[in-house]
Amino acid sequence: MKAIVIHEFGDINLLKYEEIETPKPKPGNVLIKVLAAGVNRFDHYIREGSVIKDISFPHILGSDAVGEIAEIGDGVSGFNVGERVIPLPAYPTNKDDYDIYPMSAAPSFSLSGMGFWGSYAQYIEVPARWVIKDETNLNPEELATLPMVLTTAVRAVKSVGGVKVGDKVLVQAGASGTGSMQILVAKALGAKVATTLREEEKTDFVKKLGVDLIINTRKEDFVERVQQWTDGNGADVVIDNLGGTVLPKSIDAAKTLGVIVAMGFVTGTEVTFDIRNFFFAQKQLRGSMFGDIKDFKWGLEQVKDGKIKPLLDHTLPLNQAAEAHRLLVEGKVAGNIVLLPWQE
Ligand SMILES: NC(=O)c1ccc[n+]([C@@H]2O[C@H](COP(=O)([O-])OP(=O)(O)OC[C@H]3O[C@@H](n4cnc5c(N)ncnc54)[C@H](OP(=O)(O)O)[C@@H]3O)[C@@H](O)[C@H]2O)c1
Repeated sequence: MKAIVIHEFGDINLLKYEEIETPKPKPGNVLIKVLAAGVNRFDHYIREGSVIKDISFPHILGSDAVGEIAEIGDGVSGFNVGERVIPLPAYPTNKDDYDIYPMSAAPSFSLSGMGFWGSYAQYIEVPARWVIKDETNLNPEELATLPMVLTTAVRAVKSVGGVKVGDKVLVQAGASGTGSMQILVAKALGAKVATTLREEEKTDFVKKLGVDLIINTRKEDFVERVQQWTDGNGADVVIDNLGGTVLPKSIDAAKTLGVIVAMGFVTGTEVTFDIRNFFFAQKQLRGSMFGDIKDFKWGLEQVKDGKIKPLLDHTLPLNQAAEAHRLLVEGKVAGNIVLLPWQE
């Protein structure tokens, strides 16, 4: 099969389009013919070597895939060759951990394209337990934008943030991959949503997501704007994917007893804030990491009902994975890029 292979950590030129042996599904696994593979920022971090160091090379990146069952391993039932399926982008690899909830808390939980070979390939082998039948009627390239970003967003906004109808929610970086999907999830839950951005030209993209307030942080202080928007109370829930210097202000933007969900570190991994402002107002800072199969299934229901739309920027043939990473790194992507493994 053709695949994008890396042989060491480093820059985008190390993403090599190569011919490698097609996997044979082990007992309990299925082989999926990948029709579309989504590209995430996390793939770039893994390629750089800034996430983990103990990857064995050669390695294949990619957490998101949509495809059809190509071959069924021994002991697998309930699947037919040719069926349209979506593999979970991350899951526990040890069978003893299969029933831990959320599955992202399992000791053996790992990400496709990080702990094991991922989706930048014509075929991918996945345990049947972590394969979902597609009932959305979307085309593969739209669907391939969803697994990682949708599962993560549902987890952060609904399961961890506890957002409910009528809440006023601040989502940081609404034009980002995670932020844009978090806006859609919060809207699907019936919340009012404010979001931040810095680039004026991203305003139209964010407007189309149905946000109620857009704050350009190059021109306005988002804490002040959120205070005005909430009549001086602060947001019920703040979803922060920026960390660093932004998270302390996200805490300030939350109301008394409000919830702040920390789930990213774009502006830095270390955070300093005044603990008094935090506990005097009895705020709650919660961490969120990926999600559970239940989060993904709930998200797919909303997609099926038309409440959440995939955010496909554009597609590229698989052999242009390096170009996809370049566009991502340069911030030229609104939504997701998807690679097509069977297109030249
Ligand atoms: N916890 C989890 O499970 C999980 C899952 C997925 C991702 N994440 C994390 O979420 C974060 C975002 O990932 P992504 O894939 O959404 O990235 P992305 O699409 O590339 O977006 C990054 C965003 O960061 C904003 N940004 C960059 N530098 C900034 C700065 N100095 N100040 C303010 N905003 C800045 C940009 O906003 P502008 O539009 O204003 O330029 C951009 O939209 C990453 O840290 C990632 O690791 C966490």
